[in-house]
Amino acid sequence: SNKRVLILAGDGIGPEVMGQVERVMEWLSARRSFSFDVQSGLVGGVSYEAHGTPLTDETLADAVAADAVLFGAVGGPQWDSVAREARPEMGILRLRKEMDLYANLRPALVFDPLVEASTLKDEVVRGLDLMIVRELTGGIYFGEPRGVETLPDGTRRGFDTEVYSAPEIERVSRVAFELARRRDNRVHSVEKANVMESGKFWRDEVTALHAADYTDVALEHMYADNCAMQLVRRPKQFDVIVTSNLFGDLLSDCAAMLTGSLGIPSDEGGNRKALYEPVHGSAPDIVGQNLANPLAALLSFTMMLRYSFGAADDADLIEAAVQDVLAGGLRTADIMQDGMTAASTDAMGDAVLGA
Ligand code: NAI
Ligand code: MG
Repeated sequence: SNKRVLILAGDGIGPEVMGQVERVMEWLSARRSFSFDVQSGLVGGVSYEAHGTPLTDETLADAVAADAVLFGAVGGPQWDSVAREARPEMGILRLRKEMDLYANLRPALVFDPLVEASTLKDEVVRGLDLMIVRELTGGIYFGEPRGVETLPDGTRRGFDTEVYSAPEIERVSRVAFELARRRDNRVHSVEKANVMESGKFWRDEVTALHAADYTDVALEHMYADNCAMQLVRRPKQFDVIVTSNLFGDLLSDCAAMLTGSLGIPSDEGGNRKALYEPVHGSAPDIVGQNLANPLAALLSFTMMLRYSFGAADDADLIEAAVQDVLAGGLRTADIMQDGMTAASTDAMGDAVLGA
């Protein structure tokens, strides 16, 4: 059957890394039982330039109609002065909101050949395989009221509001508990219940859900600051971490570095409708130089194969190819050790296809 995939490559290195994914998709189409019905659209700054908005209603409709969406990255300094509602980043925020992608799965999986390149101790990261489930459509990035105001005494201030409803906490926690059952059966729920009302509420709701439906899964609660420290100190203590939008943003970037580079990990948002994107942004500092690491985008695509299309064998095949290429010593600049020469984006794509 044909799988309808919408590719939104976006800005900066988005099109560069997505180009390598498309090569692998073509390779798969030519050899496998299913083929991809690929459509492309504009998102972010390139959409703003063409249509005056970072995401048109038509492209949003295409995203909702697709079986899955592959997203590159958006943003760049050339749009820094654009009004908030038209900023490139609003493109991805709107997609997450409108597609109801409330559960963002951010794996940190260590590829052993990269352990030597890590500044962390071998025994700390070797074999690491954890999954952060980040709530993605609520919390302080969306809460009202928000704004900048001037107080009667003339003082100016900026403010945002952290809000979580019981159903929002329950549905994302369910995703975490269900995932844990298919993994190592352990969940850490992370908040700041000591200093935040929404954090205390989060802890109470997760505890109640656990008692009602998931007593077979080991649940621990942890404060977000401690979690940040534990991720660096002893990351292998974690299996599944479930947390808010803000804490998940920070903790998953931290966990990403345990795997070698922002160019390595990949993430998935969603439930029925899913969108897959590398964690990294548009990397304006290396755009157009054939330097970007395409593996994060490629591994996001393997998550699409695994979670949206049930094609675990194809996903395994590509992950094994990545493992082989890294074991062979090929590195883009971001994951290079001293004395190595940087491979280009294209060369990395060639090598993965070859493997
Ligand atoms: P970034 O992730 O674009 O770059 C951070 C650093 O990592 C840079 O030094 C970059 O060269 C490097 N890097 C990132 N991806 C890489 C890759 N695939 N291969 C090799 N090196 C890589 O984050 P930054 O610089 O904070 O943001 C740049 C722009 O991207 C901003 O406009 C930001 O808003 C946007 N952004 C968009 C995201 C998205 O589309 N989901 C996520 C994060 C940032
Ligand atoms: Mg982030």
